[in-house]
Amino acid sequence: MQIKTQKNTKKLSGLLIVPFFKEYLNETPEDYTEELKTFVKKFKKEKEYDGDTSENLSFTVDSKDLPERLVFMGCGKRDKFSATSARNLGAEICSVAKDNKSTKLAIIMTPELNLYVQELVEGLDLKNYQISKYKTGENLKKEEKKELKEVVLVTNKEAKAKESALKALVIAQATNVAKDLVNGPANIVDADYFERISKRLSSDYGYKLTVLNKPKLEKLGWGGLLAIAQGATKPAKCIILEHNAGGSSKPIVLIGKGIIFDTGGYNLKPTKHIEDMHSDKAGASVIIGIFSALKELKIKKNVVGIIPLAENMIDGKALRPNDVITMLNGKTVEITNTDAEGRVILADALTQGCKYDPEYMIDIATLTGSAMVALGDRYSGILGNDTEPNGLSKKIVQAGEYTDELMWELPLHEDHREKMKSKVADLVNCDEGTSYLAGASKGAAFLENFIGKNKWAHIDIAGTAFTSDPKKYEQKGATGVGVRALIRFLENV
Ligand code: BES
Ligand code: MN
Ligand code: ZN
Repeated sequence: MQIKTQKNTKKLSGLLIVPFFKEYLNETPEDYTEELKTFVKKFKKEKEYDGDTSENLSFTVDSKDLPERLVFMGCGKRDKFSATSARNLGAEICSVAKDNKSTKLAIIMTPELNLYVQELVEGLDLKNYQISKYKTGENLKKEEKKELKEVVLVTNKEAKAKESALKALVIAQATNVAKDLVNGPANIVDADYFERISKRLSSDYGYKLTVLNKPKLEKLGWGGLLAIAQGATKPAKCIILEHNAGGSSKPIVLIGKGIIFDTGGYNLKPTKHIEDMHSDKAGASVIIGIFSALKELKIKKNVVGIIPLAENMIDGKALRPNDVITMLNGKTVEITNTDAEGRVILADALTQGCKYDPEYMIDIATLTGSAMVALGDRYSGILGNDTEPNGLSKKIVQAGEYTDELMWELPLHEDHREKMKSKVADLVNCDEGTSYLAGASKGAAFLENFIGKNKWAHIDIAGTAFTSDPKKYEQKGATGVGVRALIRFLENV
């Protein structure tokens, strides 16, 4: 999608979006042309339209100063309008364009909207995402025709609008990159695919790239990651990307769960639960999404991204329930459930993260069905060890509030830690008997054994990464949740 700006509505053709706040009935903005003001007078006189949120009204006009098709879009009351409303409005505008079979449109940017250019454009570009990546020929052409190609912002603040819009496109594209990876089928978007995309990011943006392949992982002792991958034909991998733009400051380490497909292993998932398990690489995809934006957003921080990748499969070589493995940090784990695999690969990645002496470590993972049962698909769970009012967890939650990626703090209690102790080894990966109760907390309690003395937060996106009930700016399937919140966190921290 391309964004242009211009000062007035002259020489535009096609579709013009006219945002309408309730207050405009009495104080029509300067940015409206005389003809638009006439429309408003009529709305008022005939009580025809008063700009309720999401109420739209279309007209076909014949004028030399306006394009043929006008759509007034209700924005509700001015003081209720927020970043989230702007994002939703952007998405709705994209839908209006699609309904009108328009690949091009212009938007009148009134003062209220000039405050939220970034969010509006984010909404447009997020909604413009298409899942049809694997269509060919005519089928592909048909889909491409539906895409919104050009948006003109009609504004008297052109330079600022352009800057915000370009930033929005980078952030929305980063989210869409993550969505593509999450939606991608496991036979195509595998560990090698993640390696190829990381190589491209590294050469495009100058990130340092380290790829630990199976022999290297064996040599270094990544017992957790290797154990989870041992039943799969395709070997484990760990990818490390480094953005070094923060001078001598301590890095922020971001870790994403990369289970290419989660069958559950010998604790096999039932049909209903296995269906969407190509989305178990969502955490890993978030890290790639973020790195596709860090350089362009000029984030002046040292950021390390660690992506452990494995497939949780069944085979003669696969991990069994009751196996005991030795992790990268030397601790032993009794595998009581092969379906609690995410925490095992994250544990080794967290151990690796400690080596960077980080300011903060944050992991993001589709970790537990419990998080989904507790919070559904509107809130991710967040847990950690820096839960003070100004601590790491609150900072991330706040970033997510702004980006509409809501998170809810879940508790981490001594009893949860107690449950993760094994009789035969140091830890179990899943506690006996009550495993499904407070599962998100116990998952975090397991991870906590691998974070050293660092400040750490764990985001459980099992319920939010993949949805059948999309928000206005989402589609069914991957949401890319976490990309925008963590980018905002990195910008502000
Ligand atoms: N990948 C799943 C969690 C998940 C469930 C993600 C639903 C998205 C939607 C994870 O590996 C898993 O299987 N967790 C188990 C842990 C349990 C065995 C302790 C779970 O939550 O059932
Ligand atoms: Mn699992
Ligand atoms: Zn999993």
